[in-house]
Amino acid sequence: MAVMSQSVRRYEVRNGRNRCHLIPYIGNKSGFSDIFDELVPGDAGNGKIVDVFGGSGAFAIYCCFRFGSDRVVYNDNNPVLTNFMAFVRDDVAGLIEEYEGHKSASSPDYFLRVRTESLTDGLRGAGRFLYLAKNAFSGKIRFNKKNGFNAPMRKSAKCPSLSEERLRAISDVVGKMAITNKSFEEFQDTRDAFLYLDPPYMNNTNAHYNGVPATESFARFVRATTLHNRVMISEQNEPDAIGIPESFRIYRIALRRSLQYVTQKDSAEIIATNYDPHERAR
Ligand SMILES: C[S@@+](CC[C@H](N)C(=O)[O-])C[C@H]1O[C@@H](n2cnc3c(N)ncnc32)[C@H](O)[C@@H]1O
Repeated sequence: MAVMSQSVRRYEVRNGRNRCHLIPYIGNKSGFSDIFDELVPGDAGNGKIVDVFGGSGAFAIYCCFRFGSDRVVYNDNNPVLTNFMAFVRDDVAGLIEEYEGHKSASSPDYFLRVRTESLTDGLRGAGRFLYLAKNAFSGKIRFNKKNGFNAPMRKSAKCPSLSEERLRAISDVVGKMAITNKSFEEFQDTRDAFLYLDPPYMNNTNAHYNGVPATESFARFVRATTLHNRVMISEQNEPDAIGIPESFRIYRIALRRSLQYVTQKDSAEIIATNYDPHERAR
């Protein structure tokens, strides 16, 4: 079967610091809000919405703003992120207080010490992660395979202030969002939902996350879920390189600044959907 549709959509990701931006994160899709406005159907909020590879949560947060948080699920297999997200949702005041404590003690040595401490230990862990995330070199968080934070500190030793207003607004809007810490395969039996898949870029040697799905497992997952759900996928690879079925619609997106580590100039991504975003909601 031929590819049903291809279209080119140009978008500048220079300023993704909008209301969906929670933390600096490689692959953060907060700059994609306008694209989501076009490609996520207006009736997606009638069912469950799962941000399967949630990361900084930009898509889940976007959906909470647009549809309310009752049916939105944020998932990531990294427990550092899900612990952090739980405190964004449930105790933002405590999180801000933890951050301020780190900010007043911040130094290059302090940063290295915090890196060795637990990032999954409730509010304390969430506060440490927020401090590390805001002070990571060039905003590029990196985890090793054991979910250990291993990015160096940014060059300026001055710890940045939080955008408290934005953080509190995000906390308010995600109030009922569910948070899960699973691997993507566990969503294989999901039915009648809207799934957003933004996996670590496959066939890429830059190790930012705790792991990268095997291409075949991802392809199997897409084949299984696409039969029963609406699925939207973000990737850098060409669709056939990662097993996206030919029936998907492909949207090409030019990024003015790469979200990737080595490519500092323009780069391209795709969004693939198994539905027609412009079809009127039935
Ligand atoms: C490209 S990032 C997602 C970025 C996200 N859309 C955002 O806006 O920040 C991919 C995420 O997938 C997570 N991940 C890696 N392997 C996974 C797996 N097997 N199951 C679920 N999540 C996984 C990583 O921890 C990482 O946060």
